[in-house]
Amino acid sequence: MLWLKAFHIVFMVTWFAGLFYLPRLFVYHASTQDPATRETFKVMERKLMVMTHIGAVLTVGFGVALILHTPAWLQMGWLHAKLTAVAGLLAYHFWCMKLVRTFAADANTRPHTWYRWFNEVPVLFLVVIVLLAVLKPF
Ligand code: HEM
Repeated sequence: MLWLKAFHIVFMVTWFAGLFYLPRLFVYHASTQDPATRETFKVMERKLMVMTHIGAVLTVGFGVALILHTPAWLQMGWLHAKLTAVAGLLAYHFWCMKLVRTFAADANTRPHTWYRWFNEVPVLFLVVIVLLAVLKPF
């Protein structure tokens, strides 16, 4: 059980490394007109997105394994609230995927300031989900 939880947390960190850095790349990408720099950001975004996918799949995988190990968790309010927040996090993840494609097609129309706010969103998810998982308040 503790091995499952340990790897659940390891891959959660991997997932968030991608979710924190991808929007930062979008900020820089939206700030530059230089074609060569844009091509570099496209490569970085594509490769980072792969790492972020791996983090997401294995965080969810080990999370589900934890539930299969202790099905009683499914009765707990904290897990219901946590999974609702994780659904929001997955929506943010898929939005990033769509934005990687938009930038790859040189089709971005949003200013870099918009991405600076977009970049803050994962922090809110991280704090809420970790507090629910550790404190189990209800
Ligand atoms: C579908 C996705 C997820 C599922 C099914 C899931 C499920 C679980 C379960 C059942 C536990 C065990 C609770 C315990 O033993 O105390 C757990 C622990 C934990 N989860 Fe998740 N989780 C998911 C996603 C996440 C995400 C996205 C994060 C981080 C933002 C996260 C952070 C944690 C932490 C920090 C713990 C350790 C809590 C502790 O030891 O007190 N989980 N998770």
